[in-house]
Amino acid sequence: MKVVALVPAAGRGERLGAHVPKALVPVAGTPLVTRATRGLLDSGVVDAVVVAAPADHLGDFESCLAEFGDRCSVVAGGADRTSSVRAALESVASGAFDAVLVHDAARAFTPPTVPCAVIEALSGGAQAVVPVLPLADTVKQVDADGVVTGTPDRSSLRAVQTPQGFAEPLLRRVHASAPGSATDDASLVERVGIPVATVMGHPHAMKITTPFDLQIAEKILVEQP
Ligand code: CTP
Ligand code: MG
Repeated sequence: MKVVALVPAAGRGERLGAHVPKALVPVAGTPLVTRATRGLLDSGVVDAVVVAAPADHLGDFESCLAEFGDRCSVVAGGADRTSSVRAALESVASGAFDAVLVHDAARAFTPPTVPCAVIEALSGGAQAVVPVLPLADTVKQVDADGVVTGTPDRSSLRAVQTPQGFAEPLLRRVHASAPGSATDDASLVERVGIPVATVMGHPHAMKITTPFDLQIAEKILVEQP
């Protein structure tokens, strides 16, 4: 199965509050986007990576990714995550790959077991696959005033990670037809009624969002084999 991974990395990282876009922030000297790309290419199941970068930092991203040669290309991302994914997808020739992974640059410490499990599920016939973890916290629904309106059954809820995997024609179809944006790509597939399978995620695939998350990465994740 030929696999391309799209890496949306064009966010500003406002919650992290660094002076550079989040994907360029180094952990132990290596930028998040370099770590995320290396993780995908080293997993053995990804043939090529396309990174969507902030339009005003293309040169910086190209420098951070030069070591991967022609296995990795950089395109300008868009105003939200969905348009960044779409820009990356449009840069890939239709039909050149069987499957597409979409992986946040911010999940830079994702172990190879996660992309491998996603690709295995796609190889087994799934059209769309997401890595998930059970929730540790009880979750409440609230109204506009913050008053609790309900407690969904936690046993049927999952936290969703990336890389999410798709049959190539399906991802193209849902992105071509979906108006507006979504926080992940699987939700575009859900909207058209196609089943989305799940595989086991991993705690190290956490999304680095806040300065606290960055400390976890610097103090714990970077030490892992
Ligand atoms: N992303 C993107 N293009 C955007 C916005 C986000 O490619 N216009 C990417 C981010 O670079 C990140 C992933 O989508 O790898 C998940 O987004 P998030 O963690 O929210 O990152 P940021 O949007 O950069 O952070 P913040 O929301 O705190 O500004
Ligand atoms: Mg964001």
